[in-house]
Amino acid sequence: MPPSPVHRVLGIETSCDETAAAVVDDGHSIASSVVSSQIDLHAAYGGVVPELAGRAHVELLTPVLAEALGQAGSDTSGSGIDAVAVTYGPGLIGSLLVGVAEAKALSMAWGVPLIGVNHLEAHLFASLLEQRDLGWPLVVLLVSGGHTLLIEVTEPGRYRQLGGTIDDAAGEAFDKVARFLGLGYPGGPAIDRIAEVGNADAFAFPRSYPGGYDFSFSGLKTSVVTMVRRHPEASTADVAASFRRAVVDVLVTRAMGAADDVGATAVCLAGGVAANSLLRRRTEDACAEAGIGAFLPSRALCTDNAAMVAAAGWWRLHHGRASDLSLGADPTLRLAAAT
Ligand code: KG4
Ligand code: ZN
Repeated sequence: MPPSPVHRVLGIETSCDETAAAVVDDGHSIASSVVSSQIDLHAAYGGVVPELAGRAHVELLTPVLAEALGQAGSDTSGSGIDAVAVTYGPGLIGSLLVGVAEAKALSMAWGVPLIGVNHLEAHLFASLLEQRDLGWPLVVLLVSGGHTLLIEVTEPGRYRQLGGTIDDAAGEAFDKVARFLGLGYPGGPAIDRIAEVGNADAFAFPRSYPGGYDFSFSGLKTSVVTMVRRHPEASTADVAASFRRAVVDVLVTRAMGAADDVGATAVCLAGGVAANSLLRRRTEDACAEAGIGAFLPSRALCTDNAAMVAAAGWWRLHHGRASDLSLGADPTLRLAAAT
């Protein structure tokens, strides 16, 4: 257990292309949350350029930290901050290292504990920030640019991976199809927007259900590309709507099947793709029909942010799991390693 009560945690997130810092009290009350997106920097390249992301974190992290601390009534002397939590993986190595180095320096300078946080576990904690009375077990569908995971959470910190993608992550499929359709980067929000005015019945794209609770999206992506090459006149809105519905059909069917099998009290969405309008509507409807809860974090907490890192860090610290200054960055960290 920590040597002194920890109320106020500073969270730092630099695993990919968002530079973020947040101050969270008692693991659930957000005093400040600042996110600086590098979208404009990477948009010209159609995706995240790791080298540029790392350099941008170095430039952005100091002002982002100062803003988050200031908004929470603290300052760069760290007054009132009881601990520093930082994402140490998974993610881009050059990006992770910036946050980890900064967190170590602040922990040393302020004389407060350092907590390394698994980015995937942080996404799971995003729900806990807004919904404190979660029942257990929960089924969490964690869908982001790098991950598509179906996880059973028996209680905070106890996870069982039920399934994952065998090829592209759901967000990656959105990004790749959007790029092919000329909708820009990041692709998920662009497809989501244009799909709202398209006809989802226009094209019958395939739904893939590999064994167990696994996912596969590369066949769907190829099918969209092949169809559009054959029919360049096809309406982009109709293609986007049909594609979005195929992805969401698979995600919701798998999540509800898992919820039924494990007797879940609720299904919870996490990760950037959880911001998808159709996924949110369909999850709510399916859960209502099944008579279980649906926890949908607000969109700002679905995509990368540091409030979820601080929340996960607070929880870890209260379970005696502080890190020491030998903490390194682990680009391929898995969820199991954090349990
Ligand atoms: O969790 P996140 O911010 O970063 C990672 O850890 O990957 O997720 C980013 C991913 C991107 O692939 C982006 O296209 C996708 O989330 N995304 C969406 C939507 N908003 C973001 N995908 C579908 N619909 C959206 N509205
Ligand atoms: Zn993420």
